[in-house]
Amino acid sequence: TWTMVNIVEEQIDKIRTQIGDRGQAICGLSGGVDSAVAAAIVQRAIGDRLTCVYVDHGLMRKGETEQVERDFVAATGVDLKVVNAEKQFLDALVGVSDPEEKRKIIGREFIRVFETAEAEILADAVSGDDGDKVAFLVQGTLYPDVVESGGGAGASNIKSHHNVGGLPDDLEFELVEPLRTLFKDEVRLMGEQLGLPAEIVHRQPFPGPGLGIRIIGEVTRERLDILREADAIAREELTRAGLDRDIWQMPVVLLADVRSVGVQGDGRTYGHPVVLRPVTSEDAMTADWARLPYDVMERISTRITNEVSEINRVTVDVTSKPPGTIEWE
Ligand code: XMP
Repeated sequence: TWTMVNIVEEQIDKIRTQIGDRGQAICGLSGGVDSAVAAAIVQRAIGDRLTCVYVDHGLMRKGETEQVERDFVAATGVDLKVVNAEKQFLDALVGVSDPEEKRKIIGREFIRVFETAEAEILADAVSGDDGDKVAFLVQGTLYPDVVESGGGAGASNIKSHHNVGGLPDDLEFELVEPLRTLFKDEVRLMGEQLGLPAEIVHRQPFPGPGLGIRIIGEVTRERLDILREADAIAREELTRAGLDRDIWQMPVVLLADVRSVGVQGDGRTYGHPVVLRPVTSEDAMTADWARLPYDVMERISTRITNEVSEINRVTVDVTSKPPGTIEWE
């Protein structure tokens, strides 16, 4: 719309004014809409003085890394550095089943990988006498995040970046938050306006630790592949049924340590169950279990058990939040 064009142009102008010609910007992409829109706006403002970093932790859903690597880059022309760190994450997660432990490890490895990439980019950018002495960090902070943290979202975020090694002492970090005054709906409209891929603009919420917290039990490459297939089928059928906007999100959870007997094809199987967790919600603080149409559940169940040989049962979680959380871990 006309007003959305204005809002986009206004934000681009603001960023141009803030950054001027003072330095280089870095933005971490998560695969979600907020960081994608923030990056696209800054790219429009300062072009290739922005470098985006995408950490592939191996815990993404099917196709999501390609959406960032290929489609987002094609749509924005952004300068992207992809760090493939799957092995590092999976090695760190060996033998770990505890949910909090998983989150801690994934968060820790993420910061390590991101800061290394960041240091490499900035070391290149600031080398030489007339190098830039300001590094701008782009973040997709939304208005509700600002309010929730008492307006201090930025200040607390910047600290973790103060101890990046290998950089000049006089290099300053400054936050750039182009979405600070916006709500999610507005961000999605901006994403459309900026021509970003629909899969990114309309992606439902997905946790930072990714599929790592949707495998109940130890996280392995093999289990991730099984869950990725089941999840892709469930998402495809939800979309086909036209339910993406009605359902807040629908985690698919692999009960990797549970087995049950079944009959599939020619004989007895001893496979794993998955849980569908469709919920409706306004803000994820509370949620209601979604009454998915039976025929949609049936199609998902039939396809998953036919197409993913390791899975022989599909169950549905009918717990609201509270008492259950949306995710299982
Ligand atoms: P819960 O499971 O607490 O989830 O009801 C509420 C919402 O937050 C998402 N979620 C996360 N998002 N990092 C994130 O960025 C996380 O560690 C994380 N854990 C949960 C979840 O998908 C839901 O939308």
